[in-house]
Amino acid sequence: MTSTPFPPAPLTPEPDSIRSRVFTALSRVTDPEIRKPITDLDMVSGVSVSDDGQVSVGIRLTIAGCPAAQRIESDVLAAAESVSGPGRASVEVAIMTREQRTALTEKLRGGQVARSVQFGPESLTRVYAITSGKGGVGKSTVTANLAVALAGEGLRVGIVDADVHGFSIPGLLGLVHDGLAVKPTQVGDMILPPIAHDVKVISIGMFIDDASAAVAWRGPMLHRTIKQFLTDVYFGDLDVLLLDLPPGTGDVAITVGQLLPHAEVIVVTTPQSAAADVAERSGVVARQTGQSVYGVIENMSAMVQPDGSLLELFGSGGGDEVARRLSVGQPAPVPVLAQVPLSLALRSGGDAGLPVVLGAPDDPAARAILELAHRMKTRARGLAGLSLGLTPR
Ligand SMILES: Nc1ncnc2c1ncn2[C@@H]1O[C@H](COP(=O)(O)OP(=O)(O)O)[C@@H](O)[C@H]1O
Ligand SMILES: [Mg+2]
Repeated sequence: MTSTPFPPAPLTPEPDSIRSRVFTALSRVTDPEIRKPITDLDMVSGVSVSDDGQVSVGIRLTIAGCPAAQRIESDVLAAAESVSGPGRASVEVAIMTREQRTALTEKLRGGQVARSVQFGPESLTRVYAITSGKGGVGKSTVTANLAVALAGEGLRVGIVDADVHGFSIPGLLGLVHDGLAVKPTQVGDMILPPIAHDVKVISIGMFIDDASAAVAWRGPMLHRTIKQFLTDVYFGDLDVLLLDLPPGTGDVAITVGQLLPHAEVIVVTTPQSAAADVAERSGVVARQTGQSVYGVIENMSAMVQPDGSLLELFGSGGGDEVARRLSVGQPAPVPVLAQVPLSLALRSGGDAGLPVVLGAPDDPAARAILELAHRMKTRARGLAGLSLGLTPR
């Protein structure tokens, strides 16, 4: 019996096998803004390995000075060194050409050259428009916290802050720098939304250079801006999109009704009975534009004080009252989704840009929102009911 001697293992791995291991390592590096592997984004221009095992990686970034550049560069270096060993890799950074950028944006749009509104009726993303009859009822605070809570449930979440007159979402989520909202990165005609606490956020406030400037936009301008948000902002595949609408029943609500007719409306109200009328109206207008009302959130509800007594600063019953009125003539009653009590932690978390659902999750207001997010998770996605214009409750 003869045996063939097994070839001895090479002392150093072949450059080719090092290259493929580097590629594998690079496929785990993601662009922090686009949230996809850089190898899928054509950001790796080449990997070369010298005879003595030195690795050199070429990457091309979307735009010069992009905020994610440093992070990508150091992640790429770490990935390369995980194969080559420390100090034996280098990264060369270049910027994409206009053609490469266009190719990338087209790829991200799924091959669609023509730009179109995302989250239309064919999309599986649940869209919730958060409205209220009047300002100051906590609509934005609830929106920001609900978004972060839904992201904490593992869902992919985006917010469109469409409250032109009182945009406050960037501040509530800590997306503020030197008093101004963080600016989104632009890649060609595509806008990459800043991400806070795992939520992709776009806000009119990000396009305004003077924080104290009043935005006095008329209907057509508002319509174009909201449409652009829904068209040019790269949200990727979301499970849930929340829209923070201006209070009342104005142009933006009608625009949203036209562009996203399958959006469901969440009406935020205080427990005050006087607030019920205006809150009800915002739900009625949504129905006129074809949207359905998902439910009512009562905010600033009774707070349990340290001595155990209840503080009903804004009275009680407002949420039930709005839900009751919006249920009239409907096939199924409109529910009160949550009662969010008055809360110091909720307020101060908003001021600090750290939502209470993260900063103090045991606070009763945080718990109310976290529980709602948990329930919403089970209906996060899907066409169920959408094509019929009905929503299972
Ligand atoms: N449940 C609550 N308890 C205490 N303060 C709250 C509560 N909800 C909201 N606030 C505070 O009320 C103010 C208005 O809230 P905001 O979310 O901006 O309202 P809106 O978007 O409806 O105008 C903010 O200062 C916010 O911190
Ligand atoms: Mg607001």
